Amino acid sequence: MKNKRLMGIIGLIAAAVIGTAIYSATAGKDNKAATSNEKAKVGVLQLVSHPSLDLIYKGIQDGLAEEGYDKDKVDIDFLNAEGDQNKVATMSKQLAEKDNQVLIGIATPSAQGLASATKDKPIVMGAVTDPVGANLVKDLKKPGGNITGVSDHNPTEQQLKLIKELTPNVKTIGVLYSTSEDNSKSQVEEFTKLAEKAGYKVVPYSVPSTNEIASTVSVMSGKVDAIWVPIDNTIASAFSTVVEANKDAKKPIFPSATAMVEAGGLGSVVVDQHDLGVATGKMAAKILKGQKPADTPVEIFSQGKSVINKKVADELGITIPESVLKDAGQVIK
Ligand code: TRP
Repeated sequence: MKNKRLMGIIGLIAAAVIGTAIYSATAGKDNKAATSNEKAKVGVLQLVSHPSLDLIYKGIQDGLAEEGYDKDKVDIDFLNAEGDQNKVATMSKQLAEKDNQVLIGIATPSAQGLASATKDKPIVMGAVTDPVGANLVKDLKKPGGNITGVSDHNPTEQQLKLIKELTPNVKTIGVLYSTSEDNSKSQVEEFTKLAEKAGYKVVPYSVPSTNEIASTVSVMSGKVDAIWVPIDNTIASAFSTVVEANKDAKKPIFPSATAMVEAGGLGSVVVDQHDLGVATGKMAAKILKGQKPADTPVEIFSQGKSVINKKVADELGITIPESVLKDAGQVIK
């Protein structure tokens, strides 16, 4: 009886000692894991530098920070392909092979590059205009694979309304875009359909790269009443060339981003670039916390605000109706 009790006490003490040993061993392990893995890892591939994409990247950092991933909590492995398709491919591979937990592609070609580099690492699209047309997701509501993200749908109908209000005499619109971007293809189709329905004649002028922009614009500006530019990276990255080549013909240019209006466009209705980035960053944060791209719907931005360049309007001798000025989200003077 006495012996049994003693054995019991010894047993309890032994259990306590072993328990404590196990506890401190695992706690030690956890701490180690916490110090080596403290920062989340995100890989970002930006297609090219132009002011809109730069704003999106800034937004991505802000969106991540808003969800708790500020500079102390996340390492961002940032690469810029400088508009070079070969670099898109090699940099995509690099980012996919490293220990990044989530990959972000800013603009369609970079998201496509990442998509061919990995079929299992999560990819977040940063501002991809037509994710289905670009073969990145099958269904915007249920992506199904390793890709989801944020899409910037061009507010084409509102843009056409602005063209009518600012330049009521325009009959023929030339469309300037690049053949190498899937994002531009679907926009040009949509614009052409809606513009023709509104009674315009639409003439497409496509360029294979930035090298052909100057000569193409010189030709088109002699033949059309106005120039429309979609959300196109090639044109955006060389927009000053467009403005320069149109200097003599002085046709009104209606581009699809604030930065291009600021750089010499007449006006537009645009999606906010920083907002797109913030939404992309927040989505990446959710994926870092364990959400699966397969069941994260693509977030679509299609709400536009108008931007008018009053300086360009003055140069072209265009009077902007009071009603348009009153409703404008931004007037550049
Ligand atoms: N949406 C473009 C794409 O799918 C990328 C983009 C975002 C962009 N904002 C822009 C291109 C502004 C030109 C101008 O690739």
